[in-house]
Amino acid sequence: MSGTTRARTRRYAVVLYGATGFVGRQTVAYFAAHPELASSGQRWALAGRNADKLEQVRSACGVERQTDILIAGADDRAALDVLARSTAVVLSTAGPFDLYGSALVAACVQHGTHYVDITGETPWVQRLIARHHATAAGTGTRIVPFCGFDSVPSDLGAWLLMQAMQQRHGEPCVDVKAAFTVRGGLNGGTMASMLNILGSAQAAAFDDPFLLSPTAGRPTDVSRHADPVRPRRDADFKAWLAPFFMGPINTRVVRRSAALLGYGESFHYQEYLRLGEGPLAAAAAASLSLSMGLGQRALAWSGVRTLAASLAPKPGEGPSEAAMNGGSFGCELVGTSASGRQLRARIADQGDPGNRATTKMVCESALCLALEPSALPGEPGFGGVLTPASAFGAVLVERLRRAGMTLVVDR
Ligand SMILES: NC(=O)c1ccc[n+]([C@@H]2O[C@H](COP(=O)([O-])OP(=O)(O)OC[C@H]3O[C@@H](n4cnc5c(N)ncnc54)[C@H](OP(=O)(O)O)[C@@H]3O)[C@@H](O)[C@H]2O)c1
Repeated sequence: MSGTTRARTRRYAVVLYGATGFVGRQTVAYFAAHPELASSGQRWALAGRNADKLEQVRSACGVERQTDILIAGADDRAALDVLARSTAVVLSTAGPFDLYGSALVAACVQHGTHYVDITGETPWVQRLIARHHATAAGTGTRIVPFCGFDSVPSDLGAWLLMQAMQQRHGEPCVDVKAAFTVRGGLNGGTMASMLNILGSAQAAAFDDPFLLSPTAGRPTDVSRHADPVRPRRDADFKAWLAPFFMGPINTRVVRRSAALLGYGESFHYQEYLRLGEGPLAAAAAASLSLSMGLGQRALAWSGVRTLAASLAPKPGEGPSEAAMNGGSFGCELVGTSASGRQLRARIADQGDPGNRATTKMVCESALCLALEPSALPGEPGFGGVLTPASAFGAVLVERLRRAGMTLVVDR
């Protein structure tokens, strides 16, 4: 069944699973404020395990007339099958995904339902790839994790530079690097997901630079792609850089895109946190590099994780409205070709990246599948466990631009 046929034959265009969570509530508000589905005569639904909470979210957003409520616990496979059969697309914000996501993805794959989420849990996605990539590829079902702040800016940024280098200079980038600035808060759900990985046997897998790449896509010199651990002064960015805490997630996703989209064997991608110029920035880069290394080692201890969990926001909690509105992110990228040509790109938006930008990115990803399936990259039957760039490409870039996000490649 093609994406377009699927969208026409299912009761719902999109089901928002985990709609009662901190980000989930924002996805409902986003759909309520952007009524593209309702105006094209399509219904959507809120889903989760708690009917009363779902009712409250629905009435707070004033979408009673255009939506239904579906009840399905994360382990209730029968209810998840009913949910997956009823919709063309599932958008899930129920995490930790390692705990609440596996049966839902299995139901989507079985029933040919497209799926997007906001996970950053790379070891969980590695298991999804092993279990479901071949089946989803065979049925043209797009299973697309990492559609939030991790890892849309990195993935679309690298993809935009590859496209522009090819179009303008007829050769690919062999190197892309990104430098982030971030102003935002922490969600309880994000903390729970991090602690779940660090407290399990999955933590070691997290360090593999090619965790999400097909075996054939692994280079022989993996050490060249290892995560940075030291501060550095970068001449292209004219700034001091430190390791970026999301780099070990985003780089794996970009490398999976590189394998799926054929960026070339010598393609190299790395990313950093940008501190700025001068001795203060140099000192900040050095102390951040040190504290990230120490923090990671400390969190390997269960007592430290218990302390961190007691101090951090709890699941269901997150930054205040004012803090979320005051947040922002910027991602500058430099792409270099084998002949030394350089292009620069910039991705940026106002609002807390883990909430405002994440909500925008995952909702627009779901809307790509629901409203523009025939414009998406790949053959009509293209599927698998994909990445934002390989699943959505230019369609998501345009939707995000129209939604107010900056995504530009310099002239
Ligand atoms: N990519 C990004 O940039 C980004 C940004 C923010 C968050 N995230 C990730 O997104 C996830 C959610 O974050 P959040 O802050 O929204 O977390 P949250 O507020 O704790 O929300 C968790 C959601 O999961 C649901 N849930 C929990 N147990 C369930 C079960 N057994 N069955 C069905 N649903 C269940 C909760 O339902 P109840 O309300 O019924 O408890 C709630 O809807 C986390 O994994 C986080 O790491 C990613």
